[in-house]
Amino acid sequence: MGKRFYLTTAIDYTNGSPHLGHAYEKIVTDVIARAHRCLGDDVFFLTGLDEHGLKVQQAAAEQGLAPQAYCDGLAVQWKDMARQLGLSIDDFIRTTEPRHKAVVSAILTRLHASNDIYKAAYTGWYSVREETFLTEKDRNPDGTWDARWGQVVPLEEENWYFKMARHQEWLVAFLEQNPSFVQPDSRRNEVLGFLRSEKLEDLCISRPAARLAWGIPLPFAPEWVTYVWFDALTNYLTVPASLGDPVVTTALGPDYQPPAPVADTSLWPANIHVVGKDIVKFHAVYWPIMLKAAGLPLPGQILVHGWWQKDGQKLSKSTGNIVDPIAVIGEWGLDALRYYAVRELAIGPDGNWTDEGFRSRYNSELANGLGNLLNRALNMLNKYRDGIVPAVSDELAGDARAAAAETERLLRAHDLQGALVAIWTLVNRGNLYVEQTQPFKIEKDPAQAARLDEVLYNLVETCRVLSVLLAPFIPTTSAKIHAQLRLEEKPDRLALAAWGGMKPGHKVGAPEPLFPRKDLVKK
Ligand code: MSP
Repeated sequence: MGKRFYLTTAIDYTNGSPHLGHAYEKIVTDVIARAHRCLGDDVFFLTGLDEHGLKVQQAAAEQGLAPQAYCDGLAVQWKDMARQLGLSIDDFIRTTEPRHKAVVSAILTRLHASNDIYKAAYTGWYSVREETFLTEKDRNPDGTWDARWGQVVPLEEENWYFKMARHQEWLVAFLEQNPSFVQPDSRRNEVLGFLRSEKLEDLCISRPAARLAWGIPLPFAPEWVTYVWFDALTNYLTVPASLGDPVVTTALGPDYQPPAPVADTSLWPANIHVVGKDIVKFHAVYWPIMLKAAGLPLPGQILVHGWWQKDGQKLSKSTGNIVDPIAVIGEWGLDALRYYAVRELAIGPDGNWTDEGFRSRYNSELANGLGNLLNRALNMLNKYRDGIVPAVSDELAGDARAAAAETERLLRAHDLQGALVAIWTLVNRGNLYVEQTQPFKIEKDPAQAARLDEVLYNLVETCRVLSVLLAPFIPTTSAKIHAQLRLEEKPDRLALAAWGGMKPGHKVGAPEPLFPRKDLVKK
């Protein structure tokens, strides 16, 4: 088997419950995963949890729980969110799993042996909240520390450092030569701007176990645990390694033994890491350098999304300004959430959730747009032709072909929002076609029977094409449309969007509302 298309999300901290921001990233990545499957790629989609570090240790202590028990409890909730979001994941990694600890140890051993890691003493100002030493540059102009650092204390420590600084020139050249490595361009420019103006320092990759017990011990110095970001980034290698991926296992060396090697699993390098804008530096600076030092090829792309706010304010549990994805699914259904998240916000800029905007898209685009089109097409075909598909007619074929071609182009470019806009040109075209051709009127004139056949074919075929184009975005709805059309074949390949798939003589089912109109439902 060849290398699979390997796609990942950031792994979320287990120090609280999931919110819209976490859900958004996972939905976007799932749409990309499903789109690539529909384009014929053999996709492997990974998500998971980042369970070590001070934040988690502190959150557990606040609840009076041991960190592992605390993480185990939250992991149930986060895995349930992955299920409720309909994520087509192939694995779910937790950084407290033995398979992950083995890979972190192996990579540290490898880098220690190649002299990429050294021990040094350091005295400096330390942010307890952010688990990081601060530099003079981090001070406010008046010399104070910004509130975002929380408590800042002077600290002297011996720690282990990864020789990162020496790779700076190489990384700048790499980023210059590979414009698609960090996308969108605005994020790439940000990384290049940073690398050109600031000198990289070596990365402190340890924390004394006396201060932070909740981590993976350094294999060569167990009085220290691994810095949480070094630990977390390695998750992307853990799954390939544990499946016996030859590229990763070779780089890790003979001491690493995959727990259960699976023949012919080839994942690395990852094709895309999807991450939020706040963690670009870790993925576009630290990660490539770690990989280079370990002798591993670099991923294809770091795809960076923006952040959601609600009503123009930061999402924050303490102020109650949150959107709970599970509650939205409970009230509106999964596909309403998936649709709104992807349609409202392109991958890149920041977005703003408003309940009113959500309701408006639900009613106008999903219920009155897509739902109405399917309902009218099936209703009329059942009423006027006993649900039997008439002869093929090509009146909307050009529109459908254009929408499908545009959708495919935009999906390949990971412009998911653009693809939905393209798909809705066809939804709107279908509804306009009903207004223009007035099938409910010509039905009354027997002389126009052939014309009615044409109109009905075009409508029902447009619905079929839409179910194919929508499959990566709103898979449940796509399957419902397929079921109502009584089609057996799954809408799982974009090629099925070719016009004419609906066979004359086929009998469709009865319409059932895809998106019940909420303003009509009595509370
Ligand atoms: N554990 C690290 C990631 C390690 S990846 C090797 C982390 N976790 S996190 O839980 O804080 O964030 C996980 C992801 O959610 C990040 O990509 C982050 O950008 C994203 N989001 C968190 N809040 C968000 C919004 N308000 N909006 C959109 N995405 C947001 O960072």
